[in-house]
Amino acid sequence: MNKNYFSSGRVYIFSIFLLLFVLFFSCKTNPTNQNLDKTELRPSLKSIYPYVQTDQKGVLGKNGMVVTAHPLASQIGLEILKKGGNAFDAAIAVKFALAVAYPRAGNIAGGGFAILRFKNGESTALDFRETAPLSSTTTMYLDEDKKPLSHLSQEGHLSVGVPASVAGMVELFEKQGSKNLSWEELIKPSIKLAQNGIILTENEANKLNDYQEEFRKWNDEKNCVFIYKGNNTSKWTKGDTIIQKQLAETLTRIKNEKRAGFYKGKTAELLLKEINKGKGIITQKDLDDYKPVWRKPISQTISLANSDKKTAYTILSMPPPSSGGIALAQLMQGFTNYINQNRSPLNLKHNSATTLHILTELERRVYADRATYLGDPGFYDVPQKMLLDSSYNMERNSTISLFKKTPSDSIKEGKVNSIESMETTHFSITDKEGNAISLTTTLNGNYGSKVMVSGAGFFLNNEMDDFSIKAGFPNQFGLVGAEANKIEANKRMLSSMTPTIIEKVNPKTGKNELFMVLGTPGGSTIITTVFQVILNVTVFEMDIQDAINAKRVHHQWLPDEVYYENLDDAVITKLKKLGHKLKKVGQLGKTEAILVLPNGDFVGAADYLRGDDTALGY
Ligand code: GLY
Repeated sequence: MNKNYFSSGRVYIFSIFLLLFVLFFSCKTNPTNQNLDKTELRPSLKSIYPYVQTDQKGVLGKNGMVVTAHPLASQIGLEILKKGGNAFDAAIAVKFALAVAYPRAGNIAGGGFAILRFKNGESTALDFRETAPLSSTTTMYLDEDKKPLSHLSQEGHLSVGVPASVAGMVELFEKQGSKNLSWEELIKPSIKLAQNGIILTENEANKLNDYQEEFRKWNDEKNCVFIYKGNNTSKWTKGDTIIQKQLAETLTRIKNEKRAGFYKGKTAELLLKEINKGKGIITQKDLDDYKPVWRKPISQTISLANSDKKTAYTILSMPPPSSGGIALAQLMQGFTNYINQNRSPLNLKHNSATTLHILTELERRVYADRATYLGDPGFYDVPQKMLLDSSYNMERNSTISLFKKTPSDSIKEGKVNSIESMETTHFSITDKEGNAISLTTTLNGNYGSKVMVSGAGFFLNNEMDDFSIKAGFPNQFGLVGAEANKIEANKRMLSSMTPTIIEKVNPKTGKNELFMVLGTPGGSTIITTVFQVILNVTVFEMDIQDAINAKRVHHQWLPDEVYYENLDDAVITKLKKLGHKLKKVGQLGKTEAILVLPNGDFVGAADYLRGDDTALGY
C-alpha cells in the first residue's frame, strides 16, 4: 500500500466519517441511549431525593433490593431489610409508604395481588382484590333502557369496591412476616411520612394539578389535602410539602389495631359515612366479610433455543381473578413457538416489523380469550386448562399470517379513554435469605374514585369499573367482557395486574433458581408490558435495565389498533403495509424489576425513563 495514502488528509476525513457512522449506528441500536448522560440522570428528582439511581445500568445489591415507583417508598423498604425484616416485611412497609407518598395508586382502600417465592423454592399467590358489595347487581350501571352509565362505575361513591389492601397486608404479615420486626415497626415509617410531609416531585405535582377539578367535584376543600388552597391559577410545584394529618391518624389506628383499625371503629365509621354521603352501597357487613385468598400461581415452563444454547424458564404469575398469569402464559407459549421453530429463517430482531407483527397477532387472540373466558373463578368456571393447553394455543395461532394482519372481530369497537395513564403501581423486593415478592396494587384509576374519606384522609378505589358493566361495552381501558366478568355480589372483578417471578433452570443441577422479579402498572397494557420485558431479557438477551428502557407496543384485540411509544419510521411503514392501524402514545407501563446474577447478587432496574421509579439495594 502507498504510505502517503495513510498520511493524507483523505484518511483523516475517512476516519471521521467512519467514526460518525459507527456512532450513528450504535446510538440507533442501543435502546437505552436516549440522550442520557450519566451525570444528568434525572436531575429534577435528584435535587429532592439525592440518593436516587445514578447508574444507567441498574443498581447492584448483594443482600437485598427494593424497586418501587417512589424514592421514599424504596428507602423505607430498604431500611426494613437492613433492620432484619424479610422481603415480605419490606413489602408491607412499602405498601403503606406508597399510600402516603404516591396517592394516585398507592393505597389503603384499594386492592392488589402478590406472587411470593420463598427461599426454599416454593411459591404462592396472595389475592387481595376488592369485591363487589353485597347489594351489587348485574344491571347496577345500566339505565332503564339498558344503556351503560359508565360515569357511575368510573367515578364517585358507587364505583367503590370493598377495600382489600389492609386485610391483604395483615394476612401477609401474619402468614409470611419474619416476626423479627413487629407490625407497628412496619407501619411507623409511613405514619412519620404522613406527619412530616412528603416533598412533591415534578411528576407528582403535575399529576395532582391535572386532577384538581375532579378532586373539587367529589371532595370538600377543607378535607382533601391535595386540593390546592390558593386562587384558581395556583398550582402544586416541585418541592412543595404536603402533610397528611388525617391519614397519619388512620395509619396510627391500623398500626394499633391491625385489621380492626380499618374495618371497624373510627375508620370504618368515617368510611361508611362518606359512602352514604354519595350513592355508595358498601355496608359494615361488606367490611366485616372481606377476606384475602391464597392461590396457586399460574406456572408456565418454557424452553428457549437462544444463540447456541437452550434455556428453560418457569414463569410464575397471577391466576384469576387476574387475567395476567393466563394471558402471559399464552403469549409466552405463542412467541416461544415462533422463536424455536422459525427464528433463523425469520431472523426475529427486537422491535423489528416482523417481531412486532407477531406480537400483535398473538396479543389480538389472547385478549379476545380474556374478554370471553376470564373472571372470578369463585363465580365462573374459567377454562384454565384449555387456555394453557399447548395444542389449543398452537391451533389458535396457526391462523397468523406473516403477510397481513388478522382483522379483530368487531363485536363492538372499544373506546379507550386512558391508554396512556399510569394508574396502579408495582414493586419488586428480594432479601438476603432468597425470598422474593412481586406485588401490584391499585385504586384502578388515578386517585381511584377521586373520593377521599372525610376525616380519614385516604382515597377510595373505583374498581367496580373493572367488571363488565354490559356485555361488549368497553371499560375505562377499552377492555370488553361478558358473562364471565359480569357484576355479582361479593365477586372479584377481573384484573390485568400481572405480578411475576421467573425462575431459570440451572443446567448443572436441573433445579429452578430465582432469576427475575417484575411487574408494572398500566391497566390493559400491563400484560403486554410484562411480556415484552421478559422477551427482551430471555429472547433478545438485553440486560435488565435496557429491557425496561426499550420502547414498547401494545394490542388488546379491541380496539383494533397497535399502540406504540416510538418506533423507527421504516418499521411503522412496514407494519402499515401489513394492514395495522397504529397510534402513538406517551407511555406504556412503568416497570420495576430485579434480576438475579449467577453469583446471587441482585440488579435492581427501575423504570427511570418513565417516572420517579427508584431501585435501592445494599
Ligand atoms: N384496575 C386495573 C386492573 O386491575 O387491571
